This record gives sequence, structure tokens and C-alpha cells, in this order.
Amino acid sequence: MSTEATQSSALDTLGSETRTFPPPPEFVRQANVSDPSIYERADKDFEGFWAEHARTLTWRKPFTKVLEWEAPYAKWFADGQLNVTENCLDRHVQAGKGAKVAYYWEGEPGDKRVLTYQDLLEETQRCANALKELGVKKGDRVAIYMPMIPELPVAMLACARIGAPFTVVFGGFSAEALAGRIGDSEAKLVITADGGYRKGNVVPLKKNADDAIAQTSTVEKVLVVQRTKQEVAWTAGRDVWWHDIVPRQKADCPAEALDAEHMLYLLYTSGTTATPKGIVHTTAGYLTGVAATTKLIFDVKDHDVFWCAADIGWVTGHSYIVFGPLANGVTGVMYEGTPDFPDKDRWWSIIEQYKVSILYCAPTAIRTFMKWGSEYVQKHDMRSLRLLGSVGEPINPEAWLWYQQTIGGGRCPIVDTWWMTETGMILVSPLPGITTTKPGSATFSFPGVQADVVDEGGSSVPLGQAGYLVITRPWPAMLRGIYKDDERYRDTYWSKYPGRFFAGDGAKRDTDGYFWLMGRVDDVMKISGHRISTTEIESALVSHPKVAEAAVIGRDDPVTTQAIFAFVTLRGGNDSSDALSKELREHVVSKIGSIARPKTIMFTPELPKTRSGKIMRRLLRDIANGQPLGDTTTLADATVVETIRGSTGKEA
Ligand code: WT7
Repeated sequence: MSTEATQSSALDTLGSETRTFPPPPEFVRQANVSDPSIYERADKDFEGFWAEHARTLTWRKPFTKVLEWEAPYAKWFADGQLNVTENCLDRHVQAGKGAKVAYYWEGEPGDKRVLTYQDLLEETQRCANALKELGVKKGDRVAIYMPMIPELPVAMLACARIGAPFTVVFGGFSAEALAGRIGDSEAKLVITADGGYRKGNVVPLKKNADDAIAQTSTVEKVLVVQRTKQEVAWTAGRDVWWHDIVPRQKADCPAEALDAEHMLYLLYTSGTTATPKGIVHTTAGYLTGVAATTKLIFDVKDHDVFWCAADIGWVTGHSYIVFGPLANGVTGVMYEGTPDFPDKDRWWSIIEQYKVSILYCAPTAIRTFMKWGSEYVQKHDMRSLRLLGSVGEPINPEAWLWYQQTIGGGRCPIVDTWWMTETGMILVSPLPGITTTKPGSATFSFPGVQADVVDEGGSSVPLGQAGYLVITRPWPAMLRGIYKDDERYRDTYWSKYPGRFFAGDGAKRDTDGYFWLMGRVDDVMKISGHRISTTEIESALVSHPKVAEAAVIGRDDPVTTQAIFAFVTLRGGNDSSDALSKELREHVVSKIGSIARPKTIMFTPELPKTRSGKIMRRLLRDIANGQPLGDTTTLADATVVETIRGSTGKEA
């Protein structure tokens, strides 16, 4: 761990934006929360605050205890029981909202489907009955590897209905990455599709699933949705078409009453080693956290159309496409494909068509749209928008302002929401009816949440200074552990500052107390908002027979925040070439997925190391970014740097 990120140039640019944006009075008048005393109230009694939100849910057995906290282990509402799907579906239908649209769905090729809450409830129950027929029982793990089609939330909800923890694996991950996740979770069932559409191409999901399952030993059945109708290999006795088994089930499957701390899902995310971590999220606290943040941060109303444009394969989709919005009975939008298919105005045409009122997306997307130009936006009527959200990486003030002006027409508040897979819910964000925003700042911690910025030794740093972001009090949607790896759980998040959650982000607070997030301080990169470990890519590279050593760093990139830059040393007898660099890129893609494809590969005869043999990443980062080099006196061989500087990187 180093303080490098906290010294980076981000510090100089962030926090210098002086414009402020108070919430528009028309927004305040209708906001779900507009009284700033909520902060004080929640702070005085944070358990009471969360209990109040938890009580808005439907419980099978009411809780009497709110929080049991034996750091780093939390239990929320532990003696209560509920079912997530009863809260997301049944109670809305029972309240007469069965005909309300749950999802407007659009496939990349332009096909459309509309699912009401009644439809979603019936389909979930049919799917749950199919899971039972396939032998899935409460507690069994199910791996879900699907495109962004309605059957994906249905599959997640069906698992939740019967208490089978699921793990969604992003459809862009490779067979090998899927195999690792199936192996670690010991999934019994895999739910996938023949394929999915992406940029006009077909992604071979079933083939990847087959290849992954061949490397694992726990999968008994594979449930396959027909999406693209391409030819797929079929394993008789194991593979089952969704359309053969789901539609013939009864649309009635009683929801299991589950303990508050029953595992709802596992979601794998990258850490600083080569192995992803299975982040454990449980039932009642998670639902409480995502329901409350959806309501207060996204200000959702009965008439809203909420589009969170993430992929459900990431936590953003879990919390703000599926569980948060459904718990609030909101109408959502789901889109399968890329923003530039068939043209660069696809998103704006979706907003116009469905009268989207709340849009939630990543800064990378915003910067890409800026690059494409505002003419694509201006072709469409965007007046339905009333609130905009940002997530996944720091948003630079310029992109923030473009978002505010060009997408939001200057009238929509922006909520820059900081959180992570581990936190389950948004922890730092404006409340749009209360907070005066500053472009580039995620502003303040959510009511009841307590965050701080501390130095290496754990002392709070004064306002205006940079340090590490920590969360100093438990929150209901927090991770409950790393699946089957308690030691890593303690080490990663709780050992640096005992009793406080270490997020791995650099941050500072300005003199008004606003939080400014400054990026990761560990070996985790953010590429287009996706979290990728440098070590994972290095390990993929060195698994190639021609590679002796590799060091990967994130090079600053104006659009994707960081771009993957790999320094590679070849084994003797191999010469660098464009062909080899292409081969190595594809090798990484096959090990992890296309999101991990290195942008630049630089072949170098040696890597700069300390005398004890540690690769000096800081130097490599400076070289890749064309920065003046810091201290090189600890280098074992000072000439290495000059050799590397003389090499040229091969761009993808
Ligand atoms: C990392 C977590 C949680 C949704 C998607 C990402 C970065 C996230 C912000 C923000 C600055 C942000 C952090 C964090 N991050 N939101 N609003 N401002 N940075 O989840 O893949 O678990 O990544 O994303 O660096 O640690 P994730």
C-alpha cells in the first residue's frame, strides 16, 4: 500500500472547482427528503434510523434486535425474517400495482418487452418452481451468466424466492473467469443463454459456459435461455432449455421466510491478488440499505421511470436495477446493448421513448458522449429527465458540467454517488433536495453513515488534506465477509485500521467538509468504471509460455480514467513483434475477459526492481504517464529505466 495516489495530480485538479449548485426550488418542493435535520437525527441514533427504514419492509417475522456489531462482523435485524421477493414483487401486486410496469426492456437489435409487476411476479414464481424441479434447494449456490435480458432479474429473484444464493457473472467475462467463480462458489446450477447481443455481434455465452463447466466439478444442470437462436452444443441430461421447463410451471411458488442474515448473493470482485474475492451480501440489511438509498438519493416517485444504465453483472445493477428500484415499486428501464448501436444516439432515443426521468450512469460513459458530440443528444427530447446520477469513478468537473448542461438541460440535480461492491449500497452522495453540489465532489456521507479521511497512522486529517477514506460505523448493506476466506476479509478491509472499514480509496475533504474521491490507492485499476486488478492481468500474462515477467499499471486516460499498460519481459529466444503483442492481448482476454485487454504492451528486456527484487510500479507508472521520475536510488540497476524509456509501447 502506498500514498502514491494521494500525491497524484488528481489532488491538484479536484477540489479547485468553485461553482456550486443548490437544489432547484421546484425540486426541493417535491423531494422525498428536503429537511436537512435528517442528518442530525440519523447521526444521533443511527440504529434507530435504519430500524425505521427496515420497518417499511414487509417482514414474516419482525426483528427485535437492530445491530449486533463485533468488529468486523455485523448482524442486522438478526432475529427477523423476510423474503426479498415478497418485498420487491408480492406486496406491490397486493397493493393493486400489478399492472404497473416493472421493466421496459429493449434488446440491442431493437426488440422490446414490457413486464408489469404482475408479470414479473408470475415469471419469478415459475422460474423458482423450475429451479426446484432441477434440484436446487435453499442454500445451494446458482451461477448466472446472462445477457441483459428480463430473464436475468427473473433468475435472481427466483433464487431469492427459494433462498438459493446466486452469483451473477458479468457476460463479458471469459470462460476461465466464469470457471473460477463457479469453482469458488461450488454452484450446482448455471443459468445462461445461447448468446447475447453486443455491438451488433453475438457473444457465445453457452459455449463459454460449457468450457467453464468442463473445468469445474459441481454443476449438475444448466438452464439455457434462447436469446440469439444460434447453434449451441447440448449436453443431454444436463442442459435444459428455459422455454421447455419454465413456462409449464405453476405461477405460484410460496416465498421462503428467510433469516435476515441468510446469504442473498455472492458477487466476485477484483482485489490486489490474482484471485477475485466472493463478496457476501445477506438479506434484510442489504434490502433495507438499497431501498432507503434508492428512495432518498434517487428521489423515486410512483410516476418515475428510472434507468440505471449499468450491467446487472456489476453491483450497481444488483442494487439499482434490481433490488432497490423493485423494493420501491418503481418502473425501470433495461437495455441489452452498447450505446453506439445502431448509432451513437441510442441512449437518448431510449430516454425519449420511455420518458426516462432519472438516469444513473458512469463518468466514462459521459466522457464518451462528450467526445461523440452534443448533436446526438440534441436530436432527442430529453425533457423527461429530472435527476441524474454518476457512479464508478471520480467524475471530473468538466464532465459533470457537460452532464448537467447537455443531458440535464441545466435543470436536473446531479448525484455523484460513491460506493463499492463491498458496501452494497451508496455511502457518500448528495441528497438531491438538500445538498448544494460542487462539480466533482460526492459531497457527504448518507444519513446514518459515518466516513472519515485518515492518514497512514489512522488519525483524521484536517479539512483540506488528503488521506485514506474509511467508514467508521457499520451500515446495513455492508459485506458480511469474503466467501470462504475470513482471513482475507480481515486483512483487506479491517487490519489497517481496526474497527474501521478501509475502502482502498484516496480522498480529501475540502474546507466545507465535502468529500472528494481521488481513486484507488492499491493495485486495483478502474478501467471505464470496471474494477480490474493489476495482479490478475500480470498473472494472466505470465501464464503465457513466452512471457518471463510482467508488470501492469493503469495509465491515466482521458475517457476511460485508466487504461491498461503492460510491461512485458519475454523468455529467452522470443522476439517482440506486433503479432506477439496481439497474441498476448488475446491471451489476457481468454483468461479474464475483454474488459481486461491491455491497451498498450511494452516489451522491455528487464523490469525496474529494488535490490530486494520488488518491481517498482511507481516508476513504471511514471514512465507510462510520461511523468518525471521520482526517486530511483533504490533501483538495483539504474540503467533499466533508460532502456525502458527507449522502448516504444505497442498500442491495441
Ligand atoms: C470503486 C469500487 C459501486 C458501483 C460501481 C463500482 C470507485 C465508485 C465512485 C465515485 C469516485 C468512485 C472507487 C471504489 N468509485 N464510485 N462516485 N467517485 N470513485 O463498484 O467495482 O466495487 O468499484 O469504484 O474507487 O473503490 P466497484
